[in-house]
Amino acid sequence: MSASDPNPSSPATTTVPGPTRAARHVGVEPILSARDLTKYYPLTSGLIRHTVGHVKAVDGVSFDLFPGETLGIVGESGCGKSTLGRLLVSLERPTSGSIIFQGKDITRLGASEMRRLRRDIQIVFQDPYTSLDPRKTVGDIVGEPFKIHPEVVPAARRSDRVKELLELVGLNPEHINRYPHEFSGGQRQRIGIARGIALNPKVLVCDEPVSALDVSVQAQVVNLLVKLQKELDLAYVFVAHDLSVVRHISDRVGVMYLGKFMEIGDQDQIYDRSTHPYTQALMSAVPVPDPQARESREIIVLHGDVPSPANPPSGCRFHTRCWRAQPACSEQVPELIARDDGAGGHDSACLFAELFSKASEDITADDQIG
Ligand SMILES: Nc1ncnc2c1ncn2[C@@H]1O[C@H](COP(=O)(O)OP(=O)(O)O)[C@@H](O)[C@H]1O
Ligand code: SF4
Ligand SMILES: [Mg+2]
Repeated sequence: MSASDPNPSSPATTTVPGPTRAARHVGVEPILSARDLTKYYPLTSGLIRHTVGHVKAVDGVSFDLFPGETLGIVGESGCGKSTLGRLLVSLERPTSGSIIFQGKDITRLGASEMRRLRRDIQIVFQDPYTSLDPRKTVGDIVGEPFKIHPEVVPAARRSDRVKELLELVGLNPEHINRYPHEFSGGQRQRIGIARGIALNPKVLVCDEPVSALDVSVQAQVVNLLVKLQKELDLAYVFVAHDLSVVRHISDRVGVMYLGKFMEIGDQDQIYDRSTHPYTQALMSAVPVPDPQARESREIIVLHGDVPSPANPPSGCRFHTRCWRAQPACSEQVPELIARDDGAGGHDSACLFAELFSKASEDITADDQIG
């Protein structure tokens, strides 16, 4: 069986019906799964603030995250990536759908079980300048989770544990009493990461963790995350809009557009054998180091802005900007299902995926319409 074969419907391995599974994941229980997850924010109007609609920030997302792997999530700004991240770490409750962690639907847990769970799924935020309280010392910031979860480290050992964590993320433990402004952007993100791993989580959601950093520092922080993943056996959901960074760190990648996954698959399936025009357009703008490859390819420009998630287009919600749209695209909603990519198959939500299943380098400007 190839790595991209669709799910064999083995009841022993698929306790939760869901997306297509790669061969290496058959028989492995996901550590975290989302099923038909939605988050709708009410849009209100008037003095009595009645609801006039909903911003569908996340609109039916399903995926599995396996132990120790990294699932990258990409998409333009406003596509719902951060909202999905906040749902996964229970900072917000979904409107509907479920999040299954180690076999339990965490959207239906009581307060005490929820508190326990919060230890296991942690988040690192994008901006290390605003996510760290400037009035607190590094020791207080990294040790903060122990106040909420005192059972993890006894009070007498907390200072030592904070020092260990600082060392683990490449900071000087002697700087425990310094304030965030005394550190560079990269060092501050290391502080955020130390706080994120303080409770020994199993899943770390990283929401654009390097986007606010200088390019020269980004690689160092990404390498730190790779090192920690190996040492601590962490699974990552890694949200970013920089596709080169995502390629570097991800085992699998999900491409989001207007609250939905357009395509999801192994890193090489998405980067080399994408079947979705949205992914192909995003990929065409990724810088290529090889000068020959750079010359022979064309950048596919997506025209217009992402439509409002309060009123997503009918049918395929990408059709208003799709450079390959056909009349059927505005009427039929494409399912996210395994579709032929020329070397097996992976999940794509394009009605014509099979027609477009050529390597992304082959796509030229002549293919563009509109
Ligand atoms: N608390 C909120 N209330 C209302 N709308 C929100 C809220 N949070 C996010 N949104 C909207 O949801 C959509 C998705 O936002 P977000 O998840 O931040 O996207 P991304 O991280 O991909 O840029 C956007 O249209 C955004 O304006
Ligand atoms: S279904 Fe149609 S509009 Fe949507 S991505 Fe495919 S070709 Fe484009
Ligand atoms: Mg975001």
